[in-house]
Amino acid sequence: MTEQINSLEEYHKVYAESTQNPKAFWERQAKTFTWKKPWDETLNWEFETPKIEWFKGGQLNITENCLDRHAKASPDKIAILWEPNDPSAKAKKITYKQLLDEVSKCANGLKANGIKKGDVVVFYMPMVPELAIGVLACARIGAIHSVVFAGFSAQALADRVNDASAKMIICSDYNKRGAKNIPVKKVVDDALHLGCPSVETVIVHQNTAENCDFDISHDIWWHEAVNDQSTDCPAETMNSEDILFILYTSGSTGKPKGVVHTCGGYMVYTCYSFKNVFQYQEGDVYWCTADIGWITGHSYIIYGPLLSGATTMMFEGVPTYPNPGRFWEICEKHKVNQFYTAPTAIRALMACGNEWPEKYDLSSIKVMGSVGEPINEEAWHWYDQKIGKGKAPIVDTWWQTETGGILITPLPGITDTKPTYASYPMPGVQPVLLDAQGKLVEGNNTEGLLCIKYPWPSMIRSTYGDHQRCKNVYFAPFKGMYFTGDGARRDEAGRIRVIGRVDDVINVSGHRMGTAEVENAINEHKNVIESAVVGYPHPIKGEGIYAYIIADGHQGEDTAFAESVREVVKREIGPIAKPDQIVVVTGLPKTRSGKIMRRILRKIAAGEGDKLGDVSTLLNPEIVEEVKRKASEV
Ligand code: WTA
Repeated sequence: MTEQINSLEEYHKVYAESTQNPKAFWERQAKTFTWKKPWDETLNWEFETPKIEWFKGGQLNITENCLDRHAKASPDKIAILWEPNDPSAKAKKITYKQLLDEVSKCANGLKANGIKKGDVVVFYMPMVPELAIGVLACARIGAIHSVVFAGFSAQALADRVNDASAKMIICSDYNKRGAKNIPVKKVVDDALHLGCPSVETVIVHQNTAENCDFDISHDIWWHEAVNDQSTDCPAETMNSEDILFILYTSGSTGKPKGVVHTCGGYMVYTCYSFKNVFQYQEGDVYWCTADIGWITGHSYIIYGPLLSGATTMMFEGVPTYPNPGRFWEICEKHKVNQFYTAPTAIRALMACGNEWPEKYDLSSIKVMGSVGEPINEEAWHWYDQKIGKGKAPIVDTWWQTETGGILITPLPGITDTKPTYASYPMPGVQPVLLDAQGKLVEGNNTEGLLCIKYPWPSMIRSTYGDHQRCKNVYFAPFKGMYFTGDGARRDEAGRIRVIGRVDDVINVSGHRMGTAEVENAINEHKNVIESAVVGYPHPIKGEGIYAYIIADGHQGEDTAFAESVREVVKREIGPIAKPDQIVVVTGLPKTRSGKIMRRILRKIAAGEGDKLGDVSTLLNPEIVEEVKRKASEV
C-alpha cells in the first residue's frame, strides 16, 4: 500500500524528500502496486514538446490494482455502496469480489460487441453502479473511456463523440433525478441524428420501466450484452503511458479539449492522494458527491478509492430531493466518515436553513472536503460548524481535470486549515507564482499566476488528437512550466489561496465553462449579431453567466427573446450553460484594434459600473453609458 503521512513532522520530511529526490519518492510509491512488468525509467520529461513519461517501460492493468488484489485479500469488503435517487429504494452493496465479476462480465460484453484495445467508448449515464462498472470494464480491456456528463446536450455529446471518433456509446434509458425521469437515450439518438459516423453500437442500460425508442440495427440492451458473459476476463497488458481515458473540459477557446490521462502515473497519484488527503482508514465509508462525468468522479469516486481498497459511495440523486436534508440523511444512514462535496452545494444547502443538518446524527464524519471552485468564508464556516461541528477538518482541495489528482490541500489533522485557503502542496508537487512577464514571484504575502515547475505522475499528457493545443495552452505561456490558468495568493505562512481563473473561463457551480463556447452557442440564434459573455459573482453558483447581446430587431428588455437565447444555449451545450443574465445592447465596448473589452463588461456585470476608470481610449467610448444603463434595467 502506498504510504500515508501521519504527522506534521512527517509531512515536512516527505515533502522535502519528494522534491529533492522525486524519482526515488515516486518509485517507492509505485512499487506498492501490481505491475505485470517493472518499469525501466521512473521519469522522463521535458515541458517543451511537452513529453512526460512516468514509469516508462512498465506494464500493468489498473483494474488489477483496483479489483483483483482486493478481491483476493478481502473479497467481501464493500467496494461500492450505492444510494439510489428514491430514498425508499434499497441501497446496493457491491463487494470487491462482486465488482470484479461484474466488471469482467461487462468487459467480455464489450469485446463481444467489437470493442478492442485503443477503441474509444463514450459514456452518457446517470450515477448508477453500471457507469463505474462500464468505465472499469474499458480499462480492463484497454479501451479508452470518455465519460460525458449527462447534462450536456445532443450537440455537445456529438461534438465529443466525433472529436474522439468513439466506436460505442453506453447510456441509460432515463436518468432519475429527483422526481423526474430524464430521457437520456433520446439525447443519444438525437446526437446520432446530428451525425456520429464512428459509432457502431449503443449499449442501453435499463434504469426505469419507461419505454424508449430502440433501433435494433445498432442498439443493444446492457443486460443482453452483459448478463450471460463469463466472470473471467484477463486484464489486458497496458504500457504505463498508454491512454487510460479522455475527459473533455472547457478552455478559453470555443472547442472543448480532450484531456488525456495515462495508466501508470494516474494510478499511482490518485491512490496516493486519496489515502493522504482523506486520511482513509480501514473500514471507513467515504462519500464524494461529484458526478462521474467530471474529473472528481473519475479520480475520487472510482480510481483513488478503489485502488486504496476503500468503500466508496455513489449517490444517484440530487441534494434537495425529496428535501434539503438528503445529504445529511445519507451521511447518518451509512455512517459516512469522509464527505467530499462542492462549495456550490454547500451554499445551496446553507440557504435551506440549519434545521436540515440539525435533524441528523453527523458524528461519523471525520474529514470534509471541498472542490471545484474557491470556497467563500461564510460557506467554509457553515460547513465547519454545522456539518463538522468544529471537529472535522476541512480539506479545501485545489486541482483540475488536467492535474488528474489533488495538488494543493491541507492534510486533515496534520497541517493547519484556514478558511478559503487550499494551503499546502502535496508531496511531489512544486507550485510557483509568476508575474505576467513570467518572472518568479518570491516571498510570502504575494500574488501571481499559479504554475507547477516539476512533473507529477497524474498530469495531463496531451489533448486528444491535437498535441500542439496541449503545448499552447499549458506549456507555451511560461517556459519550463505547467500553467494552470489560475491566479493565486500566498499568505504570510506560505499557504496558497487559489483566487480563480485568469483566462476566459468561468466557473459556474464548479463547472468550467469557456466564455467563447457560450458565445458560439448564443451566436447560433438566428437574430444574434454578436455576443460577449463574462462571469459575475453569484450567491449560490459562485459565478453566474452574464451575456451582452447585439440582436437584429431586438432592443432593451425582451424576456421572450432572452428565453429563446437560453433555449439555443441549452440545445447547443446544455442547461448548465444557460446565461443567468441577458442584456440586449446596440454595441460592445471595443479597443481600437477591435477586441471586446471584457474587463469593462465584467465590472458592469458585477455592479461596479461606477468603477470603470478611463474609457476614452476605446474605439466607441459612447457605448459604455448605454451598456451600463441597460444592465441596470435587467
Ligand atoms: C477551480 C475540478 C479554488 C480552479 C477538480 C481550477 C478551485 C478549476 C478549487 C478546475 C479550489 C478547483 N479552490 N478553485 N479548491 N478546485 N478550482 O477541471 O479555477 O473541473 O482551475 O477540476 O476549478 O476545474 P475542473
